[in-house]
This record gives sequence, structure tokens and C-alpha cells, in this order.
Amino acid sequence: MNEKPTLFSGIKPTGIPHIGNYLGALKQWVDLQGKYNCIYSIVDYHAITIAIDKDELQKNIYTTARILLSIGINPDKSILFLQSTIPEHTELCWIFNCLTPMSELQRMTQFKDKAKQHRQNINAGLFDYPVLMAADILLYNAEFVPVGEDQLQHIELTRIIAKKFNNRYGEMFAMPKPIVGPAKRVMSLNNPTKKMSKDLGESSYISLLDPPEVVEKKVKKAVTDTGPTDANNMSAGVKNLFDLLVYFDNNSAYQRFMQQYQQGTIKYSELKQELANTINKTLDPIRTKASNITDDDIKKILQSGANKARQIAQAKINKIKQTVGTFI
Ligand code: TYM
Repeated sequence: MNEKPTLFSGIKPTGIPHIGNYLGALKQWVDLQGKYNCIYSIVDYHAITIAIDKDELQKNIYTTARILLSIGINPDKSILFLQSTIPEHTELCWIFNCLTPMSELQRMTQFKDKAKQHRQNINAGLFDYPVLMAADILLYNAEFVPVGEDQLQHIELTRIIAKKFNNRYGEMFAMPKPIVGPAKRVMSLNNPTKKMSKDLGESSYISLLDPPEVVEKKVKKAVTDTGPTDANNMSAGVKNLFDLLVYFDNNSAYQRFMQQYQQGTIKYSELKQELANTINKTLDPIRTKASNITDDDIKKILQSGANKARQIAQAKINKIKQTVGTFI
């Protein structure tokens, strides 16, 4: 590790990542490589806060790694590892548990949403989820965390925990700052007032491995409206389609369709066809690369990433334990 600041981020292995994950976070992960010491984790301990079948989880871990490598995460430039292979994450989580007020956790909107969705399984892990996330970040003394908007409250809590620790035991952690891009909240295709999410069903999102015809079908089914109003008052669904054109770097199509929208001549079917083609242009090379990466490749990369992460994590947890007094 050199003098560059450290950056950490994570993704849950809950299936094939979607274009919301990609535009909101993963694209930044790729672009920031080289500028920071980048550490990226597939956070399987976060994934098990929702009941998930063992084989499904295994498959998701490999798929998520395959996607990260296919979009351009380069294991020579970044550390990529599986969270559960570094037990220091859960160790630090426990130390932080003993500093984190219950009242702070009770404010977390993601916990409230997930608790509503999974009434049969409101477990302690789900409640404690943001503390484990704070441990992920602070174990590596990360100063920057590229994420989508939905994670900002968790990063704010991470700063609160870091401050509490530093105040009680002396300076130990940097205050991490989020990095959010323009696509911080990509909206759902079928429910455009809500963020794109696997929780809203197949037609909410486009996965990074959806075949071209599925991309086309999902975009065609996206919610729009009965026709243009004034451009400052666009319906959420149509605005999302325009935003996606920009996020996928097709500014010329954005300008063309916006002009048609303002003149009232736009055909949403044409806007959708253009958007589907634009998305497929980005997804084509990702799909091809993904099909060439074997499980064996992935295992080797994650093991080598874990070896690098472990060195940093062990040195830091030893310092922390010395400070807290939990050693003999
Ligand atoms: P996860 O796995 O839900 O999502 C991964 C990343 O994708 C972003 N994202 C979105 N961005 C824009 N629009 C959307 N519709 C959208 N949906 C998801 C998320 O904001 C996230 O950046 N708690 C984290 C994982 C985590 C983590 C960490 C992140 C665990 N430890 C430490 C940063 C640092 C999560 O559940 O992400």
C-alpha cells in the first residue's frame, strides 16, 4: 500500500447485480482504481441477514465476483475479497456494538424497510447490519466510500461510531466520506417513484447479464404516461428513461428526444428502443467477459485478495484491541 488514500466499498451477493448497482456504485468502483488504494468486498455476512438458501448464496458469490471482474475491477489494481474470509470484520463489529446506541440503529430507514418486507425474520443481524458495515469501512481506515444514495445514512452512522471510539479511546479512525455520482438513485422501471431494486420484482430492474432481448422487453414494459406535459413536470417514469440515456452516455439521443418531448412529437416507443440499444451497447462486452471467467479463476482472485486484506485487517485489529484492553 502506498500514500494514496484508502477507499472501501461492498456489495451484497444477492443475485446478479443490476444497472442501478452499476450506475450508482460499481462504475465508480472501476473509475476510481489507481487514484485510491481500492478495497472491494463481496459482503456475504450482510447477505445472510435475509434468509437465503446455501446453494443460492454460493452461486451468488461467484456471480457477483464474475460481474465485478467483467466490468473492469482489476485484481492487480484493487483488493477484491469475500467478507467472511476475514473474521476481523465481525470481531470489530462486536467492539463497535458495545459503543453504538440502540437509538441510532432504530433510526435506520433501511432496517425499517427490510423489517416491513421480512416480518417473519426480523433478526438481530438485520438490526446490527449498519454496525458491521462500519466495521468493514473502519477496519481498513478507509477515507472514501463510493455508494448509492441509499447507503448514506449508514455512512453517517459509521462516522458517529468512529467519533465515539476516538473520543473514548483516542485517535484511531479517519472519518470516512461518501462518494456519490449523478446516478445515485436509479429508479425502478415498473415503479418509478421507488429506487430500482430486486425486491420490487423482475420487471423493476435490468440485470447486468440479462440477454439483449430481455433488456428490450423490460425497457418496453417500463411505466411512462399518456403524453408529454412541460419538461419541468415530467412524470417519474419518463424522467427515469431520459436519465438512463444520460447515465449510459448517450447525450445526443437525450438532446434529440428532449427536443421532441418539448415539441410534443415524441414517441415513447422510439425513446425506449433507443434506450434499450444504448443499454445493450454497454452490456455486450460485460456479458462476453463474464462468460469467459471460470469459478476457478474467481476462487484464486478472491483468495489472493483475502491474503492482502488480512494483513491490513490483522494489524489494525491488534492495535484496536491494545487500545480497548482486550488482550493479555
Ligand atoms: P447493495 O449490495 O444493496 O448495493 C450495492 C451498491 O449499489 C448501490 N445501489 C444503487 N445505486 C443507485 N440506484 C439504485 N437503485 C441502487 N441500488 C443499489 C448501493 O447504494 C450500493 O452502493 N450495505 C451495502 C453493502 C455494504 C457496504 C459496506 C457498502 C456492506 N458493507 C461498506 C459500502 C461500504 C449494500 O447493501 O449494498
